[in-house]
Amino acid sequence: MTMTDIEFKGSFPNLKSCPADEKPEFAFIGRSNVGKSSLINMLTNRKGLAKVSVTPGKTQLLNFFEINGKWYLVDLPGYGYARQSKEKRATFSTMIRSYLAQRNSLAVAFVLIDSRHPLQKIDREFLQWCGTAQVPVSIVFTKADKLSQLQLQSNISAIQQALLQDWEALPDFFISSSESRQGREEILLYIQRVIDVYSNSLQDV
Ligand code: GTP
Ligand code: MG
Repeated sequence: MTMTDIEFKGSFPNLKSCPADEKPEFAFIGRSNVGKSSLINMLTNRKGLAKVSVTPGKTQLLNFFEINGKWYLVDLPGYGYARQSKEKRATFSTMIRSYLAQRNSLAVAFVLIDSRHPLQKIDREFLQWCGTAQVPVSIVFTKADKLSQLQLQSNISAIQQALLQDWEALPDFFISSSESRQGREEILLYIQRVIDVYSNSLQDV
C-alpha cells in the first residue's frame, strides 16, 4: 500500500459534525497514552501528523486523516485517563461510543492494548462493550519494543487467555511498535484488504 496523498481533514467534537460517511474508515482507540497517535504517524510515515504526548489525554477530538482521497484514518481520544474530571471523562466516553456504535462507514476499530501489562479491567470492559455494540474490532498490542521477545509472547498469550473468558473467538490481532515500526506492513495490508472488500461490495449494489 502506498500513501501518495495524506490530508488532515479536521478535528470534530461529535459524530454529527464528522465528514460525510462515504469512505471506509479505520479508527484507533484505546487507553490514554497507549500509543494511538504514534501508531498513525508510524503507519503514514509522518512524524508530526497526529499529536503525540508523554502526558495522557493529548488527543481530545475525533481527528480525520484522508488517505489517497479514498479512505480515512481516525485518531480518537483515549479512555480511562484518571486525572481528568468525571464530567470530561463522561463527555469523551459518549463521544467515542456514539462514534463507534453509529458510524456507518467505520470499517475497523483498532483497539490498542499496551503489551507490557496484564489485561486491564477498563480494556476488558471496553472490548465487551464493542462486542455488544457490534463494533468491528481488531486488536493491536503496542509498545512491543519495550519487551523481550519472550516476555512479549507471554504477555500477549496471557491477555488473549483472559479475553477468551468473554469472547468465543478472538478478534484479529497485530503486534506493533512505533519505535521499531514493527507491525506496519501487516496492518497496512489488512487495511488494504478491507478496502478492497468494501469497494467490491459497493460495486455489487
Ligand atoms: P492520548 O491521545 O493521550 O490518548 O494518547 P495516545 O494513545 O495517542 O498515545 P501517544 O501516541 O500520544 O503516545 C504516548 C506516549 O507513548 C508517547 O510518549 C509516545 O512516544 C510513547 N509511545 C507510543 N507508542 C510507542 C511505542 O511503540 N514504543 C515506545 N517505546 N513508546 C511509544
Ligand atoms: Mg493521541
